[in-house]
Amino acid sequence: MRTTRGGQARVMTHTESPVRQRAVVTGASSGIGRELARQLAAHDFDLVVAAEDDDIEHVAQELRGSGVAVQAVRVDLARRDGVDELWSVVEGDARPLDVAVINAGVGFGGPFAETSLDDHLRLVDLNVGHTVHLAKHVVDRMVGQGSGRILITSSIAASAPAPYQATYGASKSFVQSFAEGLRRELDPHGVSVTALQPGPTDTEFFVRADMEDTKVGAGPKDDPAEVAREGFEAMMRGEDHVVTGGASNSVQATVGSVVPDRLGARMQERQTKPGSAKD
Ligand SMILES: NC(=O)c1ccc[n+]([C@@H]2O[C@H](COP(=O)([O-])OP(=O)(O)OC[C@H]3O[C@@H](n4cnc5c(N)ncnc54)[C@H](OP(=O)(O)O)[C@@H]3O)[C@@H](O)[C@H]2O)c1
Repeated sequence: MRTTRGGQARVMTHTESPVRQRAVVTGASSGIGRELARQLAAHDFDLVVAAEDDDIEHVAQELRGSGVAVQAVRVDLARRDGVDELWSVVEGDARPLDVAVINAGVGFGGPFAETSLDDHLRLVDLNVGHTVHLAKHVVDRMVGQGSGRILITSSIAASAPAPYQATYGASKSFVQSFAEGLRRELDPHGVSVTALQPGPTDTEFFVRADMEDTKVGAGPKDDPAEVAREGFEAMMRGEDHVVTGGASNSVQATVGSVVPDRLGARMQERQTKPGSAKD
């Protein structure tokens, strides 16, 4: 027997040795995803970790130091064949999949009128497309096995429209709504879904998004290790969502979801407008 949800029995092999639980983490080569993978390794999960560049191999090597088995997969998750390639590795192991952390994502700042359509569409393909695509594989599997935990990285940016990162804000509103809808559907199947809502976090995100000259990009940030710890614990408790970091993130997430969108958009604009770091 094996532990899949708090307190249930552990599946043992015929030799009675405990079978380690298994997790997949996307965007595990840096930032929040790497810290989530470290949390899982520290809690004795075998891992499949995915990212696009070869840093994922170094992270996998580090994680193996915790004594767990780690497979690194280099794939472009903005592509459908990339998600399927990752899934074929997950499916290559007959053991149940206990945890899926759907986390890979990018930002992209600047005026929509002056930025590249390809970059916006790529953001949507990754933040929205890979989330839905991988979740479909994961959900089919977890519903079949009657257990599982899914953590989807959303953002406090999900709560209001986001001028100067409009596609990013919309992508996070999508995944937040998606996570909440799935959660309700999957509850009777023994599968939990938790939305992780970080505030500004000290990762490569803002450099990659070209947002270092914005107030949010230049401002104070949370420690990704602490964000991941809060996310991991909320997922293991089966909570519906967690806003990580201090009270100001909770206030922003709550206020953004209750004020009219035009007001929420104005609040976000102060943080995201190019050059706002100097204001
Ligand atoms: N940092 C923040 O302030 C913040 C706040 C709220 C929410 N979030 C969310 O947190 C998640 C993680 O971001 P982060 O802050 O940890 O940023 P990060 O340090 O830039 O990490 C992003 C991860 O996603 C991977 N990735 C990017 N494009 C990919 C692709 N096409 N295919 C496969 N993997 C890809 C990256 O791997 P490669 O380097 O190999 O591409 C990396 O592992 C994102 O969903 C982001 O929206 C971040």
